Amino acid sequence: MPQLIDGKKISAKIKDELKETVQKLKDDGVSICLAVIQVGDDPASSIYVNNKKKACAYVGIESLAYELPEETTQRELVDLVEKLNTDDRVNGILVQLPLPGHIDADAVIRAISPDKDVDGFHPESVGRLCIGEEGFVSCTPAGIIQLLKRSGIEIAGKECLVIGRSNIVGKPMSILLLRENGTVTVAHSRTKNLKEVARRADILVAAIGKPKFITSDYIKDGAVVIDVGMHRNAENKLCGDVDFENVKDKVSAITPVPGGVGPMTIAMLMYNCVRAAMK
Ligand code: GUN
Repeated sequence: MPQLIDGKKISAKIKDELKETVQKLKDDGVSICLAVIQVGDDPASSIYVNNKKKACAYVGIESLAYELPEETTQRELVDLVEKLNTDDRVNGILVQLPLPGHIDADAVIRAISPDKDVDGFHPESVGRLCIGEEGFVSCTPAGIIQLLKRSGIEIAGKECLVIGRSNIVGKPMSILLLRENGTVTVAHSRTKNLKEVARRADILVAAIGKPKFITSDYIKDGAVVIDVGMHRNAENKLCGDVDFENVKDKVSAITPVPGGVGPMTIAMLMYNCVRAAMK
């Protein structure tokens, strides 16, 4: 059996560490507040938003919930973001994605003050990450770096493959692995000979969006596999982008789904909120 990278345990430890920091900040008269905005009532988004509120309560961060109707206009949403930008009580602003089709998500993200951009999606945050300046980092890839580090997995000098090039996961993931001195390749839907490319990887991050896509013929013996996927199969059971049963005897370490990458995203959001307050 390979090493199971336990995201539930590692995220709980991070939240406990943050809880202590938040208490110390409170003792010094600094309180932390996250504004969470949801437009419409997409059930998956409601679950994510609820989990974010629960994590805030656990760590000791106040959360302000804005539940706006589906018909909210882009102007109304940007007006709310701008009001929160200048509200000194609010340290972090999170607009839950996806937004309804009539709203340009990029325009809304650009409206968030980079000082309160706890999702790390603002172009200024992304630019800072690219040139190695301090700034907020997208939570899922930041969480994956924590999973690797806290599991004692060395990144420097390793062949790292990121499959997927989204702005939220694939692109920031590749830059973070580079920052940790990995030798990084990014593969995507137009990559030729993906199996061959994947079999070179010491660390493989799968952010493809296709259930059980990665089987043992994509894996180098002893590789570390990080599974960002989250899907429900026909029996309503959760699975990832990696066929866990098929690869488990070939890898040295792997994240399960659920209980791997998923819980880390919220822990790193809490981390970003604490950093926003300490600025
Ligand atoms: N929707 C799915 N994941 C995320 C996330 O990390 N942040 C936001 N704002 N929306 C999301």
